[in-house]
Parts: sequence; C-alpha cells; structure tokens
Amino acid sequence: MTKTHPLLTGCALGDIQLANRVVMAPMTRNRAEVDGSPNNLMRDYYSQRANAGLIVAEGTWPVAAGQAYNRQPGIETPEHIKGWRAVTDAVHEQGGKIVLQIMHAGRIGSHHIKGSELATVAPSAIKARGEVYTDSAGMQPYDMPTELSTEAVWKVIDEHRQAAINAKEAGFDGVELHCTSGYLPMQFLCSDSNQRSDEFGGNVQARVKFAAECLRAMASVFGAGRVGLRMNPGNRFNDTNDEFPEESHVALLKAISDLDLAYLHMMRAPIEQIDAFKIGRESFKGALIINDGFNPDSAAQAVIAGQAEAVSFARHYVSNPDFVSRIVANLPLTRLDRKTLYTPGAAGYTDYATA
Ligand SMILES: Cc1cc2nc3c(=O)[nH]c(=O)nc-3n(C[C@H](O)[C@H](O)[C@H](O)COP(=O)(O)O)c2cc1C
Repeated sequence: MTKTHPLLTGCALGDIQLANRVVMAPMTRNRAEVDGSPNNLMRDYYSQRANAGLIVAEGTWPVAAGQAYNRQPGIETPEHIKGWRAVTDAVHEQGGKIVLQIMHAGRIGSHHIKGSELATVAPSAIKARGEVYTDSAGMQPYDMPTELSTEAVWKVIDEHRQAAINAKEAGFDGVELHCTSGYLPMQFLCSDSNQRSDEFGGNVQARVKFAAECLRAMASVFGAGRVGLRMNPGNRFNDTNDEFPEESHVALLKAISDLDLAYLHMMRAPIEQIDAFKIGRESFKGALIINDGFNPDSAAQAVIAGQAEAVSFARHYVSNPDFVSRIVANLPLTRLDRKTLYTPGAAGYTDYATA
C-alpha cells in the first residue's frame, strides 16, 4: 500500500483530530483491579495500540451500581482517575488519541459482582433473561432490577455528567455513550424493557430522553464536539427486544440533532431489514464511524464510497497491536485467541507480537 491508502489520511471527528481513519473499537477485557482501577497492564495494552487514529477505551462504569462484569474498570473514584491518567498519558506520549466509553449496565447486573448493598436498577422492574459469569459464584442469573423513580433517573443522568468530569480529569480526549447491547441507555430506548409512564417512557419520544439527556450532560463537560454516541439498531444482545428498532434509533438521533456531537459510532445492524449505516448518514449530520466485520480492504472501500469518515476494528486490534503499521506495509494479520479475551493477566492481552 502507498501512503495514499484511504484509511491513512487524517480526519476530524468534531473537535478531535485523528492522524488516520482507523479506530480501535471499545472492548471489555476485564483486566482492571477488583475495585475497577486501571493498572499498568491496561496502560501497556492501550499504549501498544496508540497507532490507531482514535482508541475508544472499553465500556467503563460511571458508578458502582452500573458495573456489569468482574474486573471491569470504573471512572468514579480518585484511584480510577489516577489509573486512567497513566493510560491516557502513555497513549498521548505516542501521539495517539483516546476517548472513554461510558457504560451503565442497568439490569445487566449481579449482586455477586457489585455486592448486595448496591441495587441493580432499570427503567422498569423487568428482569433480563440470561446469566453472567461471576468470580465468586460462577454463572448467575441477572438480578431482578429495581425500577428507578423519576428523580432517580435524573440522578443517574447526573452521574454521567460526573463520569465525564472524571474522564476529563483523567486526560481523555472525549467520551462515548454506550447505547447498544442491552445496557441502561438501550433499556430505556427499547419498548420491551421500558414500560414507564413518566417523562422517560410511554412513547418513543419519551424513551429516547434518557440517552439524549446523558449525552447533553456529558457534552456540558467536554463540549459536544468531544462526545460520541454508539448505537446498533436491531441488536438483540442481553435480552433486548424493541418492537420498532429503526424508529427508536432515528427518534434518538432526531432528539439530539441540535447537539453537534463529535461522531456517531454505528455498528452494522444484525438483521437485513435495517441498513444502520444508511440511517447514520440520513439522520446524523456529523462524522460517522462504522463497525463490524471490516478488514482493511473493505474499510478502505467504505471510506472511498463516502459511507463513513472512519472505521473501527475490535477483534483485529486484539491480536494486532501494530494494526496500522500492518496496513501501511500490507502485512498479514494475526488471528485472535478467543480463550483469553476475558481472562486475567498478560496472556492474550499484551503478549501479541508486532510484525
Ligand atoms: C472481547 C470484546 C469485548 C467487547 N466489548 C465491547 C464494549 O465494551 N463496548 C462496546 O460498545 N462494544 C464491545 N464489543 C463490540 C466491539 O466493539 C465490536 O463492535 C465488535 O467486535 C465488531 O467489530 P469487529 O468485527 O471489528 O470485531 C466487544 C467485542 C469484543 C470481541
């Protein structure tokens, strides 16, 4: 490949300037300390991948009640901020950019992970079908969630603002709201998990309000030009059932159209009936990052065709820390080892070789 490779030109996502159009997609890897503090292993992992135009760091809980998985990082305490600061410093030292994905898991929670003093909360008291692995008790069903009062919903929105303040203090270039995969913002968005009748439920305009207000709260800290939104219309993960997913996602994009967010990070819809990338282009006027199943060639074609400003890669980034150098030199890619995706320690995390 020559230096004019379409993925290797700079671009802007709102106020975030990228050296290339290759984005590292957010990936939960469960390598933080038990209290959610990022450690030196995480610093090394992200620093190895600073060649990406932008790293979207893994789904991170704003408050302990929003934690989904053991050894998932948080952005709530001074220890979390200190740990993340070491990560962002290491990425910045190499000229990289890094934003943090804020992920409140809502009903996708277990007291075996968070401790019984923290309630698992949701838009409605409807339990998600499914189980989660816990370090202390193996596979466990999700908790029966407590329905958030209207006042408590506003408090959770404010917790997203505080998470953005903490992320800024930790040196991130911005924040991204995780609105996919059946976590809290998607629980509000979807007709099945949101049976409320207050200002946050009842019709689609009310169901999108939680995610829209979280984005406004995060933008009040960073400026909207440093806030992104991740979505995946049609996603059924974590017992997500929406009667009209396209309508819900378009309604959310309309509700935030005045905000001028940095980017929309759109995953390909898992069902044929929905063209998620088209929805992104038609209903969002800012920069688009597209994702799911791309390789360097298909991503380059998508950028040439004007489908997106940038493309994100998850699995390739697990096993190819020098992914951008491999694109530059047209080198083969290493396959990932699925067994070590979520296991503690360096194996399958920081020990993938560079080409
Ligand atoms: C190990 C792993 C962890 C993931 N964790 C997250 C996450 O924390 N947040 C998120 O939005 N997506 C998460 N995803 C989804 C990826 O960001 C991405 O959308 C998906 O892997 C498809 O992209 P790919 O084909 O380039 O791998 C995860 C995927 C993997 C493989």
